[in-house]
Amino acid sequence: MAFRITKAVIPAAGLGTRFLPATKAMPKEMLPVVDKPAIQYVVEEAVAAGLTDVLMITGRNKNALENHFDRVTELEATLEEKGDVDRLAKVEYSNDLADMHYVRQGDPRGLGHAVMRARMHVGREPFAVLLGDDLIDERDVLLSRMIEEQNNRNATIIALMEVDPSMTHMYGIATVEMTGTPDVVKVTGLVEKPSAGTSPSNYAIIGRYVLQPDVFDVLEHTEPGKGGEIQLTDALQSMAANNIAGGVYGVVFRGRRYDTGDRLDYIKAIVQLAVERPDLGPDLKPWLKQFSADLD
Ligand code: UTP
Repeated sequence: MAFRITKAVIPAAGLGTRFLPATKAMPKEMLPVVDKPAIQYVVEEAVAAGLTDVLMITGRNKNALENHFDRVTELEATLEEKGDVDRLAKVEYSNDLADMHYVRQGDPRGLGHAVMRARMHVGREPFAVLLGDDLIDERDVLLSRMIEEQNNRNATIIALMEVDPSMTHMYGIATVEMTGTPDVVKVTGLVEKPSAGTSPSNYAIIGRYVLQPDVFDVLEHTEPGKGGEIQLTDALQSMAANNIAGGVYGVVFRGRRYDTGDRLDYIKAIVQLAVERPDLGPDLKPWLKQFSADLD
């Protein structure tokens, strides 16, 4: 039976060690991408795909995340007094974006462990998982396509992207078979961050999933894997290999994705997005051209 998917789970309890010291007292999901924290892009994406019930898995420093999606009465009153309507709208926009819920992970024992914490909230329905590290350009469709495939196939759906073979050691990698549907593949196996030269393909998992609730039972029995962490990829490998709850399919994404979990890619993402913004692009572009000419 096809369920209408309404719930999104956003794990945001990682330590963010690659961004220290910025992430010493702040979750990396709060890092600004131009002028919005990364997490807001992700919540907006979930809402745009019809998922208005959002459960965030938080860790230490969770206050900043909760506060961002809540009212800030003093600030709102000051902006109102000043008649600064535009800024007031920006502040208020994130207050009522979605029906937000929070649960703590406790020790950050891996992405699979974080997803497990959603079990009570999700119940026995398929649900989406979105990682705050991966920003998908709002002009390119991914999540709603995955939800559609989940409805059609009653299976687990992951997002895949073809990466350069030199990059496969940084991702979960899928072994795939073609289906009759363009850009939809059957996943027959998954491996987390294969060492150089051992990757079964260049189809890399990116941070969007539409999961069958059976994943919780599988995660419960998933032993710590790479890095001593409970890996979501390992649970999905078991579901793919044993065809659990309809098996696993991949939607191949060919649009614009910004990896903000890595410092260099984070800087590139900000420049790329700012250049395209009507309020910043016209001034940034000529400066950027001059700056890069001066580098030579
Ligand atoms: P990452 O491995 O990219 O996050 O996890 P990290 O561990 O915070 O990053 P670094 O490598 O130390 O810089 C992918 C996503 O899963 C969440 C993270 O918050 C991130 O959104 N995560 C990871 C959890 O919620 N809990 C965990 O135990 C691990």
